[in-house]
Amino acid sequence: MIFEEKLNEYIMRINAEIEANFTDEDCLQRVVYDAMRYSITAGGKRLRPVLSFAVCDMLGGSLPDALRFGVAIECIHTYSLIHDDLPCMDNDDLRRGMPTCHKKFGEANALLAGDGLLTRAFEYLADFGAYKDVTPQTVLKVVFEIAKSAGCAGMIGGQIVDLECEGKENVDEKTLNYLHNRKTGELIRVSALVGALAADAGENEIKAVTEFAKKLGLAFQIQDDILDCIGDEKALGKPIGSDAENKKTTYVTLLGIDAAREKASALTSDAIRALEIFGDRAKFLKELALNLMGRQN
Ligand code: IPE
Ligand code: IPE
Ligand code: MG
Ligand code: MG
Ligand code: MG
Repeated sequence: MIFEEKLNEYIMRINAEIEANFTDEDCLQRVVYDAMRYSITAGGKRLRPVLSFAVCDMLGGSLPDALRFGVAIECIHTYSLIHDDLPCMDNDDLRRGMPTCHKKFGEANALLAGDGLLTRAFEYLADFGAYKDVTPQTVLKVVFEIAKSAGCAGMIGGQIVDLECEGKENVDEKTLNYLHNRKTGELIRVSALVGALAADAGENEIKAVTEFAKKLGLAFQIQDDILDCIGDEKALGKPIGSDAENKKTTYVTLLGIDAAREKASALTSDAIRALEIFGDRAKFLKELALNLMGRQN
């Protein structure tokens, strides 16, 4: 199957799972369900669940279980975007081509919709009866790994350092790596890891997949920094120039566009090299990494 067909098939399965789990709820707190549904069904590349699914597929594991793990991470990712856009953080008005959650539903509802998605992710993950093949031990390990990567040592930690660096002139590459690897890299790393766990992968396979996803995650955020400067708002579905407005240090402010591109490209090559042990089975993941380099959104 050619790359695009496979990618579309993965995304269709992910979106169907999301649709089935975020239905209309008729209750007094309906607005929070509406806001959660608004943000999670708005689209997006679905990179994180695609990674979980593709890694599991490569390793011959349980696809429905990997799908569940990946969709839970997509809930957490979407919550992080809702909060990232709030006026107290990046203060952005556009996300996934639509008004941001707080623009549409108000700040308090957006805050609670983010909380709702985070909590829902763990409810959904821990629903043991819904799994097909994985053991309770695997589910528990996945819950632990996802909580760790989304928490203060991971994504939240990166977001904190990102905010603390705003307006500072002396942020160096080491600090920028630290925050990028956490705010973006961690959820990408764990997405690949849980795909491997759904396939009961061995130590060497987990090591290779983790190395791949770490390099990919940093390359992905460098691309995000570049697109914030020279992307097209319509294609990107979010505002251009948000980083400059918030006086962020990014790979572009530190190295310039060309060197930032070279860095992202070198990291992508490293990511692809990490998959060598899988031979032809890694074809999709390699193409995914290359595709992300040329992305417009
Ligand atoms: C945006 O993530 C925020 C970052 C971590 C860079 P994505 O670029 O994956 O956003 P969606 O999910 O496609 O909307
Ligand atoms: C945010 O990074 C990463 C998370 C949401 C955790 P950015 O602030 O650069 O993401 P965008 O550009 O708003 O999507
Ligand atoms: Mg941000
Ligand atoms: Mg932002
Ligand atoms: Mg950005």
